[in-house]
Order: sequence, then C-alpha cells, then structure tokens
Amino acid sequence: MKIVGVGCGPGMMTGEAIRAIGEAAEVHGSARAIELASEAIRPGCPVHEITDYRALRTLDDGAVVLSTGDPMLSGLGYLPGEIVPGISSLQVALARLHLPWTRVVVVSAHGRDHAAACAEAGAEVARGRIVFLLADPTFAVDRLAGVLGADSPGARIAVCESLGYPDERIRVGTVGDPPIPSSPLFVVVAGIF
Ligand SMILES: C[S@@+](CC[C@H](N)C(=O)[O-])C[C@H]1O[C@@H](n2cnc3c(N)ncnc32)[C@H](O)[C@@H]1O
Repeated sequence: MKIVGVGCGPGMMTGEAIRAIGEAAEVHGSARAIELASEAIRPGCPVHEITDYRALRTLDDGAVVLSTGDPMLSGLGYLPGEIVPGISSLQVALARLHLPWTRVVVVSAHGRDHAAACAEAGAEVARGRIVFLLADPTFAVDRLAGVLGADSPGARIAVCESLGYPDERIRVGTVGDPPIPSSPLFVVVAGIF
C-alpha cells in the first residue's frame, strides 16, 4: 500500500503523487482528499471514502490511501507502507507569510486538548520560536491569544484559512486583537515575526 500526500489545496499534487494515484488498484480517502486527487484517479478505479480508519491497515499492496497535505503532518503516515510526500499546510502557510522554517516548531491542537496545545504554544513562543499550530474547527484563537499575551505581549498571530483554495485568506493580528477565523479549515502561526 502507498500513502500518498495530495497537498492541502487544489493543484498541489507532485508528479510522484499523480503517478502513484494513476497506477492504484484502488483508492481510499476522505471526501476532501478524493476531491483533491480526482484528476489523477484513472477512470474505472474503485474509490472508497474512508469510514473505518482501522481497516486501512489490512489493504492490499496495490491500494493507495490518500492523505491531505503531507501524510507525516498529523496525517495517515502512521500506516504501514510507502509514503509519498505532499505539500502541507505548514509549507503553504510559511510561504505565504515569508517565514523561514528554521525558527518554527509544530504544535497540534487538532482533535487534542486545546488548553494543553495553547500552553505548549505559549511556552515555545516565550522561548523565541515561531509556532505553527494545526487547528480544528472549534479551536478558539482568542484563547491562544490570551495565553500568549501573558509572556509574549509583542507576539503576532496569523490565521491562514483555506490555504490553496479560491477563498484562501491570510490575516495577521496581535495578541490584543487576533484575527478570528470564519472558515473551519485554518492554521495559526504565532510568535515574534
Ligand atoms: C489532521 S490535520 C492534517 C494536516 C495535513 N496533513 C497537512 O499536511 O496540512 C488537519 C488540519 O490541517 C490544517 N489544514 C489542512 N489543510 C488546510 C488548508 N488548506 N488550509 C488551512 N489549514 C489546513 C487545519 O488546521 C486542519 O484542521
């Protein structure tokens, strides 16, 4: 089985990803991943929207599992099989903001305890790091701003929504006046930058 990153938005598949998907005996993915990969799926190839993530471990050799963005960034890269990298929300957000990776640390709040993720982000920003935070639709940016404000009052907060999609939006604010996302698909970048 191959786990193939399809990019975090339309038009972001690599040549390697396009080839792997085109040669697949069957394709499995979330609705968003299937939509992103649709042009590369050969006509007649069986396509399955994933309902049971545990069942993915037992797929045949020729199967391709699609993972949005890059499989190794909180994606399906934990599955056994070859990983084909993809363009992640991390890559696109840092490119849009013109920020180098060397000062960045990744924090995930996706499906996790948001208070713990905010505390982790606050500690990293206080150490001089730029935090790239994977959010989920219920993540409250103003709560993160409150935590950052305690130790890093000069920090800036960027909210990057729908990266790569036609409605992409990047806004940068302060801990006192953070941007509030209006779409469920967003990441946050915070720090002194
Ligand atoms: C489970 S993580 C998967 C990340 C993915 N593997 C990647 O490489 O970007 C899902 C989270 O990634 C972020 N994300 C993924 N695609 C995005 C996009 N196009 N725009 C903004 N955020 C995105 C959001 O925070 C979303 O809740």
